[in-house]
Amino acid sequence: MFYKIAQKFLFQTSPEFAHNFAITSLRHTANTPLSVFYSQTVPSAPVECMGITFPNPVGLAAGMDKDGESIDGFAAMGFGHIEVGTVTPRPQPGNDKPRAFRLKPARAIINRMGFNNKGVDNLVKNIKASNPGNAIIGVNIGKNKTTPLEEGKNDYLYCMDKVYDVADYIAVNISSPNTPGLRTLQFGEMLDDLLGSLKDRQTVLAKQFDKYVPIALKIAPDLSDEELKQVCDALLKFKFDGVIATNTTLDRDPVKHLPEHSEAGGLSGAPLTQRSTEVIRKAAEYLDGRLPIIGVGGIDSDKDAMDKIDAGAKIVQLYTGFIYNGPCLIKSITEAFLKR
Ligand SMILES: Cc1cc2nc3c(=O)[nH]c(=O)nc-3n(C[C@H](O)[C@H](O)[C@H](O)COP(=O)(O)O)c2cc1C
Repeated sequence: MFYKIAQKFLFQTSPEFAHNFAITSLRHTANTPLSVFYSQTVPSAPVECMGITFPNPVGLAAGMDKDGESIDGFAAMGFGHIEVGTVTPRPQPGNDKPRAFRLKPARAIINRMGFNNKGVDNLVKNIKASNPGNAIIGVNIGKNKTTPLEEGKNDYLYCMDKVYDVADYIAVNISSPNTPGLRTLQFGEMLDDLLGSLKDRQTVLAKQFDKYVPIALKIAPDLSDEELKQVCDALLKFKFDGVIATNTTLDRDPVKHLPEHSEAGGLSGAPLTQRSTEVIRKAAEYLDGRLPIIGVGGIDSDKDAMDKIDAGAKIVQLYTGFIYNGPCLIKSITEAFLKR
């Protein structure tokens, strides 16, 4: 109810204003009596994934709380996990504004934010200051725009070193369409080199901190079947711990009829649902239970979430569907999950 009122106001403003307003409000009200407006009790529904026990199967997808400023607020809503980031070694402003667009009739968003964030040191400080109870914290890492692609690997390693001790898991984002060239890291030698280097570093850090932090790769929905198979093979070869499917899509077919379709960037929300579920289904087939899948992309209802779990996802994440539905979606998905 409260979310419906808040949404009425927020949808009168630009997506980026609404986002900043929400993040700031959450930051200031978490752990105060005002958090009653968005706090809820979500039933316990533990799920094991990547060796971690998640308190329920519903998480916040990367990009909403890039700098980890409102972790406690999102935890109070009942998210079982919160994936902060994408964070880069150095702070960066992202692309010029406007860079996010609501496609309301399609329950969708197009964004070309471009990894705007305050840098990894700031994120680590915010995670250390947070108190999310039993919610799991994932940290999604990326490369700075100004780092040449050939040196991109070093940015991921740098971030991994910095976040290892404060993260419950690490997500490696090579699938954003908004950093030029980034998606080429999903292929061939560049992929092998990146995955191999991250795995080696994980082994070193696990010894150093006496703590194993799983690493997952976040992939695009725009891979061909053959490319998806190659990514899955590489993930198995380098003993990655999980795969997050999917990021936003460059495809515009489902929203061709809307004027905003011509905006550059990644499309998310309801038009992505089927494609993302299809990628999960195919990845599950190739991986054959050897690696868990975290399902994300267009979850707008309990049914969408259950379809992803039926397709092979262990747990799910929300971004756009959370904006259109509010926190009640976390609870209703968890209840639907428990009923099966
Ligand atoms: C405004 C916006 C910013 C995003 N930023 C990131 C990001 O920084 N890192 C990332 O891995 N994914 C990012 N995403 C992608 C989401 O995490 C998610 O994978 C995608 O939107 C599909 O899920 P959805 O349809 O539920 O939104 C972003 C999405 C949106 C809409």
